[in-house]
Amino acid sequence: MGASEYWDSEAAAVDEAPDHGLRDPAVRDAWARLLLPLLPPAPARVADLGCGTGTLTLLMAQAGHLVSGLDLAPRMVAVARGKIAAGGVVADVVVGDASSPPWQPGTFDAVLTRHVLWAMPDPEAALTTWIDLLAPGGRLILIEGRWSTGVGLASADVAELVLRHRREAEVTILDDAALWGGPTDDERYVITSPR
Ligand SMILES: C[S@@+](CC[C@H](N)C(=O)[O-])C[C@H]1O[C@@H](n2cnc3c(N)ncnc32)[C@H](O)[C@@H]1O
Repeated sequence: MGASEYWDSEAAAVDEAPDHGLRDPAVRDAWARLLLPLLPPAPARVADLGCGTGTLTLLMAQAGHLVSGLDLAPRMVAVARGKIAAGGVVADVVVGDASSPPWQPGTFDAVLTRHVLWAMPDPEAALTTWIDLLAPGGRLILIEGRWSTGVGLASADVAELVLRHRREAEVTILDDAALWGGPTDDERYVITSPR
């Protein structure tokens, strides 16, 4: 099974995870409190790469941002488009590979990914492509994790990767159970790089 087929097969169930579906208002509020202050003032141009079912795409669009989503899996994109339409906002979500997004360099005020870098075959190559998408002064926001299963990327390794290409990489550990719908033993974090 290729990556696209694998992620397509996950599309129907992924929103059952509290942090992916954000169905619990308390979990959604926790993400809004975390994420929105990390973004430039609205309306900022934001890329949500590997946007999955578009939960964060929707949250950011509802906060007034101009969000472009992209995901490898057509079924994820279909769910995302439905969710965005139902949410009464506009956000363009396309099928594509985050290794080679269909956008010009320098297009976005913020590039955000959540739980995507770990899935890229060449994380550093992906990272440099994402950094190129940033307009001058744009910020990179990477929400990642190293799960107790052993899957994922450690924050120190991702910070080191970012610092090969950027001057700043601030790591914040996301240990607030409200974000995840309960306590977790994983190393979950956000790395923000404003320059
Ligand atoms: C764990 S899910 C996270 C989805 C979403 N970012 C979220 O936090 O709800 C990982 C997503 O990355 C997407 N993905 C994996 N490899 C990709 C690639 N090369 N290009 C674009 N999307 C990719 C998958 O299809 C899946 O939707």
